[in-house]
Formats: sequence, C-alpha cells, structure tokens
Amino acid sequence: MSEVSEVFTPRNIIVTGGAGFIGSNFVHWVVDHHPETHVTVLDALTYAGNLDNLAGIPSDRMDFVKGDICDAELLDEIVPGHDAIVHYAAESHNDNSIADPEPFVRTNVVGTFRLLEAVRKYGIRYHHISTDEVYGDLALDDPAKFTEETPYHPSSPYSSTKASSDLLVRAWTRTYGLRTTISNCSNNYGPYQHVEKFIPRQITNILTGVRPKLYGAGLNVRDWIHTEDHSSAVWTILTKGRIGETYLIGANGERNNIDVLRMILRLMGQPEDAFDHVKDRPGHDRRYAIDATKLRTELGWEPVHTDFESGLKATIDWYANNPQWWEKTKAATEERYKRQGQ
Ligand code: NAD
Ligand code: TYD
Repeated sequence: MSEVSEVFTPRNIIVTGGAGFIGSNFVHWVVDHHPETHVTVLDALTYAGNLDNLAGIPSDRMDFVKGDICDAELLDEIVPGHDAIVHYAAESHNDNSIADPEPFVRTNVVGTFRLLEAVRKYGIRYHHISTDEVYGDLALDDPAKFTEETPYHPSSPYSSTKASSDLLVRAWTRTYGLRTTISNCSNNYGPYQHVEKFIPRQITNILTGVRPKLYGAGLNVRDWIHTEDHSSAVWTILTKGRIGETYLIGANGERNNIDVLRMILRLMGQPEDAFDHVKDRPGHDRRYAIDATKLRTELGWEPVHTDFESGLKATIDWYANNPQWWEKTKAATEERYKRQGQ
C-alpha cells in the first residue's frame, strides 16, 4: 500500500472520451460542481462519441479537441499546460469486442500506453477509468464481492484490454514514479448512454414498438450505479486518493437482467412478459458485485442515487423526452444486433 497521499486541486484537466456516455456526464458534473476547474475534452468522436452530449457547457469552461489518444504528436501539442488527465476514452462494448476485437486492443491498450508516455514526459497527474469486469465473474450463489485484492481474470476481449491497460498504469507508476490512481467501477446507467447498451436498448426498443431482447435466461447479475455517483467518486479519488492506489466504485446495486427488464416494462406501462429471449452472449459473465468499503471509509465517498427504481424512471423519461438524441443511431445499432442474431 502506498504511503504517498496528496490533496490535489485540479485547475486544467484533460478528459479523454469526454463526448461518450460516462465521460460527458463527468464533464457536466465538473462544470456544475467545480467552477475553478477548466476542462479540455479529447475525443475521436467514434460511433460512440457525440458532441450533443456536451451541449450547453459554456465555452469558457471547456475546450473540445477532436483527436485520437493514440496520436503522440497531438498529445505533445495539447498536454503541456494541463495538470491532470482523466482517461475515459475506450472501446467500451463487450458485444462489439466479440465481433471485432482489434479496435479494442488499439484504443484501450495502445491508447493508454500513449497517454502514460505523455504523462511521464510532462509530469502531470493521471486518473485511469476502468471496470470491475477485469476481475472476471462471480457465481450467482457466491456471497463474495470484488475487492481491490481480487485477482484479475477477464473473460472478454473488452475486459482483457481494460485489464491490460490497468497493468500498464501500475507498471508505469512503479517504474517511472508517475502520480496515478485507478478506479474500477460497476455498470453505469443514466442519460447519454449509447443505445447499444442493455438499459437504453430496451427503453428505445419499447419506445419504437419493438420487443426488448434478453440474452439467455436473463439471470446474469450486474451491479448498477448511477453515472453521477461514478462522477463524484472519480472526483474524490482524483483529488484525495492515495497515489499508486486502486479504488473500486459501486453502490450496492446488484440486480439480475430479467428483473431490470421487467421493471423497465412496468415503468413504461407494458406487460412484464412482453420481451423476447435471444441468443446468449458467448462467454457471458454471470455476476459482478463491488465491495466499495475502501473508497467509502478511506475517502468518505457516498452515492446519492440509492433508489434504483427512481433513477431508472428518470432515465426512461430522459430517453422518452430526447428522441432526437438517439433516433439517428438506433437503426444501425439494431442492424448490427440482427446480424449477430441478438
Ligand atoms: P462510450 O463508448 O460511451 O464512450 C467512449 C468515448 O471514447 C467516445 O466518446 C469515443 O468517441 C471515445 N473514443 C474511443 N476511441 C477513442 C480514441 N482512440 N481516441 C479518443 N477518443 C476515443 O463509453 P462509456 O460507457 O462512457 O465508458 C467510458 C469509460 O468507462 C471506459 O473506459 C469504460 O471502460 C469505463 N467503464 C464503463 C462502464 C459502463 O457501464 N459503461 C463501467 C465501468 C467502466
Ligand atoms: P451491457 O449493457 O452490454 O453491459 P456489460 O456487458 O458491460 O455488463 O449488458 C448488461 C447485461 O445485459 C449483460 O448481462 C448482457 C445483457 N444484455 C441483454 O440481455 N440484452 C441486450 O440487448 C444487451 C445489450 C445486453
């Protein structure tokens, strides 16, 4: 365990992947809660990036740079003058990683390497966003949860590239003395999540008159956290976390997929059995569950969105009220799923 700690006051941060789901929610959160901090978003605007996610942010609070985290020359141009990088950019969807793993290796592994090299060169603080999926899965009847001591055991191309990137961060920290922290969070929900993911896919299916699609029997468990709680946790770790440490982020939100789907159907006024079972995901992780004791006790973080049903209701309302945000990507996403038999 590291003895080094610092209270860090970020003034000028780079947020990679800030036009994606969780990154854009973090940018909004920082702009709303920390007027002293300026944000530069670095985002390649892949299929998952959307500038509309950053609409309404005042121009004196944020700059946007369209670019690739693998581009070392671009990093040389933009990193100097910043005091931290918060790294969200990634290829993030398991099903895509099964269909075509190559972009995952490039962005998640090589991209993280490039950022670490820039951090090494310019001596700035770095926070690495990762996932609980690096730990593999737990049995459905296992009372255990993941902790910071759980061995890495990733199952999918996505989670193995995230695990690889975490290991790069640890090695660069130990070898080159970088000032880094890592967080591994559970499944997020909330506004601006791409319609390829479970919750937005089912909400927008219902809104377009299509029956929701459940993989296999739907007994797989995910540990849901509202994306705003993820943002407050990342800020807490960035500013108060001990250098070289990993913190797990979770809010005790374990639920199986079929229960979440039935809740969505009920909240949207549909019969609870109005869905289709489709082909299961190959290698489908059974259960994720986070023990966030370290983050709660050491850094005093607490989630505020502790009522899943009301958070889900607000998320449904957001998709119902913002069809222009998701309609343009919905058809192509469903085409992709159709080709996969899902
Ligand atoms: P997302 O797919 O919605 O957004 C990813 C963003 O990264 C997009 O804006 C995309 O344009 C950008 N990007 C992709 N490749 C890039 C590149 N080479 N250079 C620059 N930008 C690039 O993803 P998300 O769900 O918001 O996830 C963000 C981060 O959080 C990821 O690191 C993911 O592993 C992690 N995470 C996600 C979850 C979850 O539930 N979604 C849970 C835990 C951790
Ligand atoms: P997803 O949102 O892809 O997140 P992750 O794979 O990172 O957990 O999926 C969440 C769960 O929902 C996962 O167990 C797979 C399942 N799922 C479905 O049952 N149907 C779907 O259409 C999708 C996209 C996912």
